Formats: sequence, structure tokens, C-alpha cells
Amino acid sequence: MITVTFIEADGTRRAIQAKLGDPLMIPARNAGVRGIVAECGGSAMCATCHCYVEEAAAGSLPDALPDELDTIEFNANEPQDNSRLTCQIKATPALDGAVFRVATGR
Ligand code: FES
Repeated sequence: MITVTFIEADGTRRAIQAKLGDPLMIPARNAGVRGIVAECGGSAMCATCHCYVEEAAAGSLPDALPDELDTIEFNANEPQDNSRLTCQIKATPALDGAVFRVATGR
């Protein structure tokens, strides 16, 4: 297990435990992090798991694949350079302590 923090829209910080190998969206949604809706269930299609990477160790995040980049570009609200879909980021030891800010809805 690793600990990852999600910052909700009102600034509330939620530290959650993520099982290694699980997409970060899953423990965030299960913990009730506000703003993580995950309508598509993790298929990189809905962008309702969109977050901004606030803190992460260098090299700890996998590169975004074309499907993720397309969904961010066309479906995410206010995409930024640090935008990611948390359903596409699997928990790894390198991500322990990472911080993500939940993007506002579409
Ligand atoms: S859950 Fe739909 S894009 Fe991540």
C-alpha cells in the first residue's frame, strides 16, 4: 500500500491508501473523494477522474498514452500541462506521497 493525497475543490486534503497495481481512481472513488466520479469505470473516456499533479517524484508517473491525452484534450474541464486521468495511473512505490488536485467538473 502507498499513501496518495487528493486535494478536493474546497481545499480539503484527503490522504488515501492505494493498493499497489490499482489505478489511483479506484481508492479515491471508494474513499469518496469529491470530484472523482469515474463515469466510464476507468476506460479513459469520461475525464471524470481528471486531476492535476501537484507533487510527484521525478519519473514516478507513467507517460500518458494517446487515449488519455485525447480524453484530456476533448473532455476534461480546464486541461493543463499537469493534467492526468487517475484511472490511468497505477499505484507504484514511487508514487508514495504524491499529491493530486481534483479538477472541477466538466
Ligand atoms: S474514469 Fe473515466 S476517464 Fe478515468
